[in-house]
Amino acid sequence: MTTRNPPNGIDSSRPNVARIYDYLLGGKDNFAADREAARQLLAASPDMAGIVRDNRSFIGRVVRYLATEGGIRQFLDLGGGLPTQTNVHQMAQQVAPDARVAYVDNDPVVWSHGQALLAHSGQVAMVHADLREPAVVLRHPDVLGLIDFARPVAVVCASVLHWIADEEDPYRIIAEYRDHLAPGSYLAISHGPTGTAEDDPGNVVGSVTTVFRQASTQLHVRSLEDIRRFFDGFDLIEPGVVWINEWRPEPGIPPAGQPRSLRGGVGRKP
Ligand SMILES: C[S@@+](CC[C@H](N)C(=O)[O-])C[C@H]1O[C@@H](n2cnc3c(N)ncnc32)[C@H](O)[C@@H]1O
Repeated sequence: MTTRNPPNGIDSSRPNVARIYDYLLGGKDNFAADREAARQLLAASPDMAGIVRDNRSFIGRVVRYLATEGGIRQFLDLGGGLPTQTNVHQMAQQVAPDARVAYVDNDPVVWSHGQALLAHSGQVAMVHADLREPAVVLRHPDVLGLIDFARPVAVVCASVLHWIADEEDPYRIIAEYRDHLAPGSYLAISHGPTGTAEDDPGNVVGSVTTVFRQASTQLHVRSLEDIRRFFDGFDLIEPGVVWINEWRPEPGIPPAGQPRSLRGGVGRKP
C-alpha cells in the first residue's frame, strides 16, 4: 500500500465521529471525549451499538451482492472509517479474492491507523481526502493506482452522507461521482433518517442529533424521499431504499438493534 499526504492536527479533546463509531463497535482507537459522547449517545439511544453493528451487517450484504451478482471488483469506500473487525476489502475478497478497495476518509486518525492496519496489501489503499471534493478523490494517485474508472466501480457511502449539510450540496457531490462512473457501476448508501411520530415516538433522532452538536461534525438526518434523491441517475436494486435490516436480509442472522434504524439502498448506473 502506498502512503501520501501524512495528516496532522489530531484534536483529541473534541468528540470525533470516526472514533465514537469505533468505540461503539468495541474498538480501541478513541479518546476520553469520544467515549463520553458515546455514553451520551447510548443514554439517548440504548440501541446505538446494535444499530452500528447492523450498519456493518448491511455493508457486508451489500458488498457480497455487488461482488457476486454485480460482478464488481473495484470499490471506492467514501468515509470508510477506522479499520474494524471485518472491513470492506475482507468482505469483498471473501467472495472475489481479486477485489480492490480504496478507502477515503478525511479523519487523520483513520488515515494513520489505516496505514498501519491495512498495510502489506497491493489491493487496498487508505486515502486521506474529503469526499466533498470529488475532483480531488477521483484524481488521487492512490485511488487511480487501484481503480480503473473505465470499468464498473461500486461507490460505498455507508453512514457518511448524513455528516454533510444541505448547504454543502451533497446531491451535486454524489452526481459528480456518478457522472465519472462507467455504466454498470453502483452506488450504495446507508443514511440516518428523520424521525416521524410513528417511527420515533420518543424523538431519539432529535436527542442523538443534539449529542453530535459538540462533536467535530454535525448530524444531518434526511427523509426517505431525500435519501432516495441521492440515487438520481441510478436504477434502484430491489427492494429499493428501505430500513437497512430489510435490505436483502440473510437467513439465520438476526439484527442486533431495533428494526427501524438507518435507511439504505443500492443503485446501478445504467
Ligand atoms: C460513522 S463512520 C462510518 C464508517 C463506515 N463507513 C461504516 O459505515 O461502518 C463515518 C466516517 O465518515 C468519515 N467522514 C465524515 N465526513 C467525511 C468527509 N467529508 N470526507 C471523508 N470522510 C468523511 C468520518 O471520518 C468517519 O470515519
